[in-house]
Amino acid sequence: MSHRTLFLLPGDGIGPEITAEVVKIIDFLNDKAGAGFEVEQGLVGGSAYDVHGVAISEDDMARAMAADAVFLAAVGGPKWDSVPYEVRPEAGLLRLRKDMQLFANLRPAICYSALAASSSLKPELVEGLDILIVRELTGGVYFGEPKEIIDLDNGQQRAIDTQVYDTYEIERIASVAFELARTRGNRVCSMEKRNVMKSGLFWNQVVTRVHKEKFADVELSHMLADAGGMQLVRAPKQFDVIVTDNLFGDMLSDVAAMLTGSLGMLPSASLGAEDPATGKRKAMYEPVHGSAPDIAGQGIANPLAMIASFAMCMRYSFNMIAEADALEAAISDVLEQGYRTGDIMSEGCKKVGTAGMGDAVLAA
Ligand code: NAI
Ligand code: MG
Repeated sequence: MSHRTLFLLPGDGIGPEITAEVVKIIDFLNDKAGAGFEVEQGLVGGSAYDVHGVAISEDDMARAMAADAVFLAAVGGPKWDSVPYEVRPEAGLLRLRKDMQLFANLRPAICYSALAASSSLKPELVEGLDILIVRELTGGVYFGEPKEIIDLDNGQQRAIDTQVYDTYEIERIASVAFELARTRGNRVCSMEKRNVMKSGLFWNQVVTRVHKEKFADVELSHMLADAGGMQLVRAPKQFDVIVTDNLFGDMLSDVAAMLTGSLGMLPSASLGAEDPATGKRKAMYEPVHGSAPDIAGQGIANPLAMIASFAMCMRYSFNMIAEADALEAAISDVLEQGYRTGDIMSEGCKKVGTAGMGDAVLAA
């Protein structure tokens, strides 16, 4: 039996409720399929602050670093809105991303046929949509120095953010995008603004070179990021994998999210560098939504984003392709069968709570 170590961080709000549904699936895979998952749980966010006075303890950080994959549900809530800035719930998330060097953020936008009618777009534009946005997560204008607001001699002030990308940062994110494309539709579209930004021109050059040297079998196209935003809304099914920088990726992935219906349906993965000794990548999986304090503790949260994140975890961290496919098919099945949590409810469907939805997926 293989050993697969998973570190679960349920966090705050609806986090523990949706985590319980993934635990059911893990237990099922261990019992029925000998999957060999070894699960530990820790504290992050407000729940860690309440116990340890920090957003994640050093002990839990060490356990996260040692695990094959980290699984985080959500952090935050009004209870912790006034805690000191350094220990606010999000600090736990940022610490994990930084220490694990998670430079590649994967945001799939999948539109299940059963939910196509609830998209912001016409159903025929999104039905069957399956795209993957690969966003650079640790560089670019969110982190570049100088980053400051300075006083000028003339009494005015000046705000400065700096977009910085080094060769290696673009090489590694491009490589991840090309590798992922090979497991899907074999197409990558790279988005930047080479017409007005040096960093855009450089991004374009490095992606083109990496493609030529190592991934010539994958189809590569380039698009200006603003045009890309338009195309995502006009004809999203033209894309397979989109690779872009931190800022554009932040915006484009939120645009793509709205193509698919509900926040409660969207999974994500963040991948780090490959360990040359083991070939394994550090990885953290999390739903895109937050801790939904408005519905926490009521047993009505949608667990599907969390469950879909676990499918990504099996696919990318454990190469359990058949199991990941089966779990994604089960999600699609329960939607076809008409099961809905409140956030995706529509007329004539069967309303279920968090546990009811988890059980339906397990049955499927
Ligand atoms: P949110 O995503 O928690 O909630 C937005 C709306 O969507 C709410 O009405 C909520 O009830 C609903 N919703 C979200 N997930 C749902 C699910 N699985 N099932 C059913 N309905 C769902 O975003 P909001 O309200 O802006 O933030 C709430 C808290 O979450 C804040 O403290 C915020 O800082 C934190 N947050 C944490 C994130 C993370 O842990 N990665 C990401 C975004 C927000
Ligand atoms: Mg965003």
